[in-house]
Amino acid sequence: MEKLRVAVIGAGMIANQAHFPALKPLRDAGLAEVVGVADIRPEAAAETAARHHVPNWYADPQKMLDEMHPDFVAVCTPNVYHKEWTIKALRAGAHVACEKPIAVTVADAKEMWDTAKACGKMLFPCQCMRWRNYMQHSRRMVENGELGEIYYSDIAFIRRYGIPTWGMFHMKEHNYGGPFCDLGVHLIDSLLWIVGGPKVVSVSGSAYRKIGNKGEEVLLSLAESGAYAGTFTPRPYDYREFNVEEFAAGFMRLDTGMSVNFKFSWAINLPTTNLDMVICGDRGGLSLNNETLYRNVGTYQAETKLKWFDNGAYKGVPFEQHRYMYENIMDTLQGKRPYLITEEENLEVTRAIECFYRSAELGREVAAAEL
Ligand SMILES: NC(=O)c1ccc[n+]([C@@H]2O[C@H](COP(=O)([O-])OP(=O)(O)OC[C@H]3O[C@@H](n4cnc5c(N)ncnc54)[C@H](O)[C@@H]3O)[C@@H](O)[C@H]2O)c1
Repeated sequence: MEKLRVAVIGAGMIANQAHFPALKPLRDAGLAEVVGVADIRPEAAAETAARHHVPNWYADPQKMLDEMHPDFVAVCTPNVYHKEWTIKALRAGAHVACEKPIAVTVADAKEMWDTAKACGKMLFPCQCMRWRNYMQHSRRMVENGELGEIYYSDIAFIRRYGIPTWGMFHMKEHNYGGPFCDLGVHLIDSLLWIVGGPKVVSVSGSAYRKIGNKGEEVLLSLAESGAYAGTFTPRPYDYREFNVEEFAAGFMRLDTGMSVNFKFSWAINLPTTNLDMVICGDRGGLSLNNETLYRNVGTYQAETKLKWFDNGAYKGVPFEQHRYMYENIMDTLQGKRPYLITEEENLEVTRAIECFYRSAELGREVAAAEL
C-alpha cells in the first residue's frame, strides 16, 4: 500500500493529544504522512502544524481538501460540524475517521454512512473507549458466558466539577449536547458492544442545567474535565455561554429485554466516579470499576477480584485507545481485519442520543420507533 496521505480538520485538544500522537508511529514507519491541518482558528492550525511537523495549514478545510487531495481525513471539530466535514471529505475522495458522536440524529448518521458507501470510502467512528483494557476483558467475559443471560446494567460517569472549558463543549450551537454527548456515548457504545449488540427500544431521560451557567467557581480542574494530557490553543471560556446540559440521567430499554440505568455529569454534587459500569446476568454480575465478579459459590455469596492484565503496547499512554484505533484503521485499509465498530452498532448509539434528547425535551419516554 502506498503511503497514506492524511489531513486533519479541527486542530484542538483531541487532534493534538490523541490523533497526532497515534499517527506518529504510522508516520515513523513510513505508512502515513500528514499533508495538512485545517481549523477555522488560523492560530490553532498554524501552531498544530508547527508542533507536529505538518507542511501545510489552512483556515479553510475545503481549500485543504481541494489542494491536498488527502486519502484520509480525521474530523476533530466540535460535534455539530462532524457531518458537514465528513461528507465533504468523503466526496473529496478520502476515507474518514470522525470523532464521537459522529452525529446526534439517526438521519444524519445514515446520511454519513450512505455517503461513504456511495463514494466507495470507509467511515471510522472514533468510539475509542472500546479499546480500553477493561472493556476488552468485559466483552470476553460476557462472550464466554460468565454472566449468563444479561438483563440489567448501571452505567455512570460522574465528574463532580469537571466542565470542559478549552473549546465549545458548553455551547449547544457548536456541540449540540453536554455530558450525554461527551461521556454518555462512550459508555453506551461500549456497553452495547460488550453485551452483544442489542437494539435500543426506548429512552426516558432528563437533562439538567443548574450549575454550569452560574459562575466560574465551578471550574476546578482542566484534567478532571477530560483534557488530562493538556491543551495547546484553547478558546477563551465564558460561563455565560453555557447552554447545554451539565447532568443527564435516565433509563433505556433494549430489545433483548435488558434495561440500563444511566447518569453522566460534568457538574453535580455527587461523588466522582470516573467510569462505572455494572452488568448483571442470571449467573453473575460484573463491576468494571471494582474489577469484581459477583457470583455465588455453592450456597455462599462470593466476590471474585479479577486480575485484568494489560499487555497492550500503549498501556498508560495518554489517549492510548486512539493508538489501538489507528492500528485497526490501518489494518482495515490494508484489508487485514475489519474495523471494530460497524455501521449498525454506530446507528444504535445515535438512536440512543436522539431518543435521550427528545425525551428530555418532551418530559416522557421516547420510543426508537417514533424517530
Ligand atoms: N474520543 C475521545 O475520547 C474524545 C475526547 C475528547 C473529545 N472528543 C471529540 O473530539 C471533538 C473535538 O473535541 P476537542 O476536545 O478537540 O475540542 P477543541 O475545541 O479543543 O477542538 C475543536 C477544534 O475545532 C475547531 N473548529 C470549530 N469549528 C470548526 C469548523 N466548522 N471547521 C473546522 N474547525 C473547526 C476549533 O477552532 C477547535 O480548534 C468533539 O467532537 C469531541 O466530542 C473525543
